[in-house]
Amino acid sequence: MALPAPSAPLPKAELHLHIEGTLEPELAFSLAARNGVPLPYADTGELRRAYDFADLQSFLDLYYDLMAVLRTAEDFTDLAEAYLERAARQGVRHAEIFFDPQAHTARGVPFGAVVEGLGRALDRAEERHGISTRLIMCFLRDLPAESALATLEEAKPHLDRITGIGLDSAEVGHPPAKFAEVYAAAAELGLRRVAHAGEEGPPEYVREALDVLGVERIDHGLRALEDPELVERLVRERVPLTLCPLSNVRLRTVGTLADHPLRRMMDAGLLVTVNSDDPAYFGGYVGDNYHAVAGALGLDAGQLRELARNSFLAAFLDHDEERRAR
Ligand code: HPA
Ligand code: ZN
Repeated sequence: MALPAPSAPLPKAELHLHIEGTLEPELAFSLAARNGVPLPYADTGELRRAYDFADLQSFLDLYYDLMAVLRTAEDFTDLAEAYLERAARQGVRHAEIFFDPQAHTARGVPFGAVVEGLGRALDRAEERHGISTRLIMCFLRDLPAESALATLEEAKPHLDRITGIGLDSAEVGHPPAKFAEVYAAAAELGLRRVAHAGEEGPPEYVREALDVLGVERIDHGLRALEDPELVERLVRERVPLTLCPLSNVRLRTVGTLADHPLRRMMDAGLLVTVNSDDPAYFGGYVGDNYHAVAGALGLDAGQLRELARNSFLAAFLDHDEERRAR
């Protein structure tokens, strides 16, 4: 295989990406016009100025509000297509994409329209963009466990398109154990399991995600650092953590990028990866996250390669696929 040109971005996998969080203001306005959905912002500039978040909840409020423009399968195709095009330019070769079905079905958008719409873009992602893909359906942890169970039922006719399940939205007060039953049912169906834990919630939530939900990766996991025994376990068990540095700064879980513990986590032997979370809202796609941490934390080329290698190791790819993607 030919070596990439020196200026080519590092090939990488993206493992923590909410497709709804890739809705750029320009696309939001064009979908709003296409669907006749009013937006409470005069223009994209005014919308962008609202991206000033105090914490996770203040982001989620806007994130859910703006989803009103996503109505049809075609909207979801356009959303995913726009992400894939940007991701390819930043070196993404494999993307494991979260979506939040309950945020759409609650607004009357059928589950099938969401999955089929996303699926149309993902079906041609290899050919158009050189990106292999997986879809991970996330449950909203601030909704009742029964709603997650009903969503898993709705997903059953579409499981050929869905690789795994995740858990996102407002964390504190919604511990992983609340979702023990739906995670067990998903495991029975052969679905892979991940969960957000330790973004704003305590280290105990990280432990619960592992022990009660049986997750294979932890999304974020930053607050695990408060518990040395837990860190030791994550190292020993090689549990991947999908970090999102620009997100952490924008949602004020860390002060500045220079304070980000990513480098300390690598030094401690944790299997960390770099991802973008909700790039339209947090000021950068995955390559921008690599670039930003490299600058702020003084990472060298070898450390950046290690992060990229980790991203493929932590992906839900089989061995041959992993080799091809790299
Ligand atoms: N955290 C929790 N839930 C989310 C996020 C996040 O960063 N983005 C979209 N849903
Ligand atoms: Zn996330």
